[in-house]
Amino acid sequence: LLVDKANYRHFMAKEIHEQPEVVGQTLARYVDVAAERIALPFKLPFDFNEIQRISITACGTASYAGYVGKYWLEQLARVPVELDVASEFRYREAPLRKGDLAIFISQSGETADTLAALRYAKAQGVHTVSVVNVPTSTIARESETVLQTLAGPEIGVASTKAFTCQLMVLASLAVAAGKSRGELSDQDETRLAHSLVEIPRLMAAALATELQIEKLAREIAKSRDVLYLGRGTSFPLALEGALKLKEISYIHAEAYAAGELKHGPIALIDESMPVVVIAPYDRVFEKTVSNMQEVAARGGNLILLTDAEGAAEATVDSLVTIVLPDMAAIFAPMVYAIPVQLLAYHTAVVMGTDVDQPRNLAKSVTVE
Ligand code: G6P
Repeated sequence: LLVDKANYRHFMAKEIHEQPEVVGQTLARYVDVAAERIALPFKLPFDFNEIQRISITACGTASYAGYVGKYWLEQLARVPVELDVASEFRYREAPLRKGDLAIFISQSGETADTLAALRYAKAQGVHTVSVVNVPTSTIARESETVLQTLAGPEIGVASTKAFTCQLMVLASLAVAAGKSRGELSDQDETRLAHSLVEIPRLMAAALATELQIEKLAREIAKSRDVLYLGRGTSFPLALEGALKLKEISYIHAEAYAAGELKHGPIALIDESMPVVVIAPYDRVFEKTVSNMQEVAARGGNLILLTDAEGAAEATVDSLVTIVLPDMAAIFAPMVYAIPVQLLAYHTAVVMGTDVDQPRNLAKSVTVE
């Protein structure tokens, strides 16, 4: 397999920039783009109406995609979803109801813990769906249903395009589930499918933040710790942002649900710890603004990713805003993933680390 870096300095940069295209290809596999309807490429071997509970299992970045998927499935299809990292799921003896559904997410399809979790679930008699990037992988072969991500080969150890493609598959599946369960009308489906069709273009627009982010990365590179905050689906994206930064820049980062700020991390705030806030304009935006005020009042420096330009600046000091395109907030994680990845990438470049092959990490963890 021959993949080159084209004109990019690292595979990771190339893979970040490929996202509008590969997410668009994944979209076209699951959505009828012209009709603005969900169109899975085959009939699922189960009826969403008969599913009482869904379990989602994965490792690393794929588990954060699963976390976003949980919010979507619960909101759009009103089905309870449990999310586990595979190393916990495989040993915690989770009771699964025969005929329910378990979803496994893996770029490589070879992660040992995820595979063991899949085998555990199959033995419990549940339906299994895997969201995988490598269709010939072990996880794909052993799953009842495979929903492939069309990210193409991902070389950088830190996952980027596989993540956003996983999100596209999960979003399509959540709309399909909502439709089958009678939670979404035809109009809802069209409105949501329309929002999905817009995603590749919005992702391309989000790439335009790169120069601004490159500048910010020079500041981030001076920090010892970085805090990421988000609410709703922006919380798992905050987790992913913190993971990306740790993995490739070796700067300590952690993520919190913004509402938990008061329950601990606020004690850490000072002028030396940047706080990255992910807040698309949605019904919890104002709540996140008040969290930012709490950070600013303690001398914290804020970086806000939002499409609500100007909405926070008046009441929050020490704020740098990265403006993202205006969009339907529900699917924001796919678009906001781009500045989050770029921030980690450019910080690592400033730090001079081996971006594509970070120390101690493997692309695919095939041993326990
Ligand atoms: C490793 C990689 C991550 C990846 C995780 C899960 O930790 O470095 O980028 O998210 O494994 O891999 P998978 O192939 O199962 O998605």
